[in-house]
Amino acid sequence: MTATLKLKDVCMVFSGAVGGAEVDVKALENINFDFHPEEFIVALGASGCGKTTLLNLLAGFLQPTSGSITLHGNPIAGPGRDRGVVFQKHALLPWLNVVDNVAFGLKLQGVDKHKRYKIAEANLELVGLTDFHTHPIYQLSGGMQQRVGLARALTSDPEILLMDEPLGALDAFTRENMQELILKVWKKTQKIVFFITHSVEEALFMATKLIVMSPRPGRITHEYDLSFCERFLDNGNARRIKSDPDFIQVREEVLSIIHGEEIPELEA
Ligand SMILES: Nc1ncnc2c1ncn2[C@@H]1O[C@H](COP(=O)(O)OP(=O)(O)OP(=O)(O)O)[C@@H](O)[C@H]1O
Ligand SMILES: [Mg+2]
Repeated sequence: MTATLKLKDVCMVFSGAVGGAEVDVKALENINFDFHPEEFIVALGASGCGKTTLLNLLAGFLQPTSGSITLHGNPIAGPGRDRGVVFQKHALLPWLNVVDNVAFGLKLQGVDKHKRYKIAEANLELVGLTDFHTHPIYQLSGGMQQRVGLARALTSDPEILLMDEPLGALDAFTRENMQELILKVWKKTQKIVFFITHSVEEALFMATKLIVMSPRPGRITHEYDLSFCERFLDNGNARRIKSDPDFIQVREEVLSIIHGEEIPELEA
């Protein structure tokens, strides 16, 4: 199958001159990876291993120091409507209500009011927020705010959805509900999703392809093809899947990979 998005020998070095750092930071080294249609790709790894840098490159917010990133064979030159981004903190506009937040990007693109509300309402329905469309943002819970962020990212009908730890700030119960909602939205919209998380359980549950990264320099060390999410979408029970012996076996393997990394000693 032809890859939609292709990373070839991608390296990203942040120069010591940036941000007052004394040395260059090799955030990513030799990343080779293909994204195929309908995949749910999850990046897992310790803090600082380059996950956000990778997402920023895919979004077009950054350009690689070397190597290439191509979408349908064309180099990514900057942000585009073909890629929607959901940030860790929702980044919504607090002075606008729910539907106006979702429709905001379309307004900037000059889409007429009738059409942009129609698209926004359809995406709010997808994330289960129709009843809250005129609410101000501050009246929503954290999980609902992330759902608004997801609806907003979907308005341009992007081919690829990039999500940087979108569930990191949520309580455990809301987080599990959001995992299930995101999987259902993914299945329904058939987008390629790139999803970052610190949670091994979340990563295994959601991914069709899991990449495990290691820091300094940031590299992909392991890849797994998984199907727990498909099992859930075929009418499975999420808690039961997460406590299945085969789930626990992969979970322990991935945990041992992550904890097997050397922990630098603290200076006295
Ligand atoms: N704009 C920047 N300028 C300089 N260094 C940067 C910049 N952005 C990231 N880095 C460095 O690159 C490395 C990777 O950072 P990145 O934010 O991609 O990690 P991460 O895996 O997303 O971490 P976390 O899980 O904590 O979010 C870090 O060492 C970080 O300090
Ligand atoms: Mg990050």
